[in-house]
Parts: sequence; C-alpha cells; structure tokens
Amino acid sequence: MGAPGRYSATCVASPNIALVKYWGQRIPEYNVPYNSSLSLTLAGLSTRTRVTFDPDLPADTLELNGTAVEGGPRDDVRRFLDLFRERAGRRWSARVVSRNNFPTASGMASSASGFAALAGAAMAALRLRGGLRILSRYARRGSGSATRSIYGGFVYWRAGRHWDGDDSYAVPFRGPEHWPAFRDIACLVAGAPVKSIRSQEAMQRSVATSPVYGRRQKELRRRLRRMQAAIILRDPDRLFPVVMEECDSFREVCETTDPPLDYLTPSSRAILDEVRSINDEAGRYLAAYTHDAGAHVHVFTTAPYARSIARRLGALRGVTETRILRPGPGVRWIPRAGSEDPAVELRVG
Ligand code: DP6
Repeated sequence: MGAPGRYSATCVASPNIALVKYWGQRIPEYNVPYNSSLSLTLAGLSTRTRVTFDPDLPADTLELNGTAVEGGPRDDVRRFLDLFRERAGRRWSARVVSRNNFPTASGMASSASGFAALAGAAMAALRLRGGLRILSRYARRGSGSATRSIYGGFVYWRAGRHWDGDDSYAVPFRGPEHWPAFRDIACLVAGAPVKSIRSQEAMQRSVATSPVYGRRQKELRRRLRRMQAAIILRDPDRLFPVVMEECDSFREVCETTDPPLDYLTPSSRAILDEVRSINDEAGRYLAAYTHDAGAHVHVFTTAPYARSIARRLGALRGVTETRILRPGPGVRWIPRAGSEDPAVELRVG
C-alpha cells in the first residue's frame, strides 16, 4: 500500500443555515431536491474528519467525538464511502475519526458539515480527481444540505433537471468576504428533542401529505431571486422580511404534514416573537429569524446590533447559549504532519 498514512487525509467543514430551505426530494436515492436552495456557511463551527483507508482493516470504523459509533450512522458512513471506493477501484476499509465543536443532531446541521468533511477527506485520501463541484455532488449523496457546505459564504444549490441528478450541485453565490458585517446569532435552546427521523424521511412525508407543499414550491423561485438581489446589495431591509417569510412557509409545511412535524420548543417560539418585537420597536428590519429541522433558532442581523440583540435573546427563558457567528469558509484540508506536500490534490472546479 505504500508508506503509512499515504491513503489518509483530514478535511474540515462548517455547517450552513438555509435561507431558502431544501425540503422534498425529486430523486430520493441520490438526495436530489425538487427546489434550488440558498444558504450561509458559518464560521466558528466545524467538523474535522480524518479518513484512513487501510487494506489490513477488516471493516470500516467510525469514531465520533471520541466515541466509537456502531449501527445506523456507521452503516450510512460505510455506504457513503463505497461511492469513493467504487470510483477508485479499491476495496479497502477505512478508519474515520470525526469531531464536531458543536452539538450533534440538534438542528445545527451537523450532517451538513459531517458529510462535507467526510467527502473531502475520502476524496483526497484516495487521490480521486475532480474539483469542488464534483466534491459537492459527492457530499449530496451523504446528506442534501452537505452539498452546500463545500463552499463558504452565501451558497446556491441548483436543483438540476437531469434524470440522474448529475447537474444537482452547489455553486458559490457570494463569498464570506462579500458582507463582512453580516452576523448570525445561533440561539441554543434547552430541551431540544433529539431528531427521531432523518430530515430525508420527514421531507418526503411533507411532499406526500402537506396540502400547502405545492403552493410553497411555486413561491420559491421568486423568493430566491429577491434574496439574491438583497444579498448583492447587502440590504437587510430587503433580505430579512423574505428570510422570515420563507421560514414561516417551511414551518407551515411541517405543521401541515401528516403526522405533523413540530421541531420547535416554547423557547424557540419565544425567540421568533422577540425578533418580531425588535423589528416592530425599531420600525425597520434589524433582525430575521430562521430555523431548520430542529429547535435551535438562527437570528440574522448586522454587526452594530449583534451584541445587544444576542443579550436580549439570551435573557429569554430556556435559551441556554447565544453565539454570534460570521460568514464562514468552505471545506479546507489539513496537510499531513511532517509532510511537505499538502494532503490534497483537489482543484477548484
Ligand atoms: C430543513 O439534508 O440535512 O435543514 O440528511 O436527513 O440530515 P438529512 O437531511 P438534510 O435536510 C436539510 C433540511 C433543512 C433545510 C436545508 O438545510 O435546506
């Protein structure tokens, strides 16, 4: 197999929060969505994953935050790594060691940063050719939202039209440097239930049963365009109302799914109310709330208001932590210790 560590790579990725939500799959086996979506990759939160392919290993192993993981999540990782093994023509098992610096499976999109980092590490470890676009397509196969965590800043995931989803991948929309004053206050709430089913399954229930799903799909294109224009102009007064409209529409779909999907706790709902009050008092849009399929709420604002709004939200009952986050980078690779050559040969695609 060559020198030890030769088929090893470490990749770091950050989670993203969706401004336009991905909810519903046109091709479920490949996580190909019905609609395009838009997200912001977040700085300060990350998953760091090392993958080592080793011909002497009898089976894949997964260690997450220092604990060996068996069962479903390990099987997901094994199936995901099979994609890379097939492409490389290797049957080697892999040792995967992954660590998040934020809560796992809590609505903080750990599946996005997790599969983005795993894809980056697996692709580099096996020296597979291809750029970030190909990496984004690989990441999609692990978790839809991981498609977007490949890039930093504001990211657009085009739904694509091909029968096999080959044209469904993310592209950078505006990098993290575009809007330096943009802030996301991640509000963690107490008692956030651990997800009982993966979003992939929940969203297909919504497609099948929510009476408002079709109407939402028709509204999305216009909402996406309005958000893109507002981001280009760095204009919160244009962006924030549309962000909240989209979040409300996503929540309406969840609540009208049979059986209903209720991700929020009373504290999450109190955060939404508080943001409405902040804007009403100011007579303009200082902040916007959004949430994914989890109880934690993200509140967008700009630098001058971030601390005072975070203090106000942090004082609400059941809010355990507020973290002020900036637009963050896309995937990055950690060079091997003691090696001159970087562990990666990926080019920007
Ligand atoms: C509500 O792609 O994260 O966050 O693979 O089951 O984790 P799983 O699903 P995932 O679903 C994301 C849904 C969403 C909206 C979004 O991120 O666009």
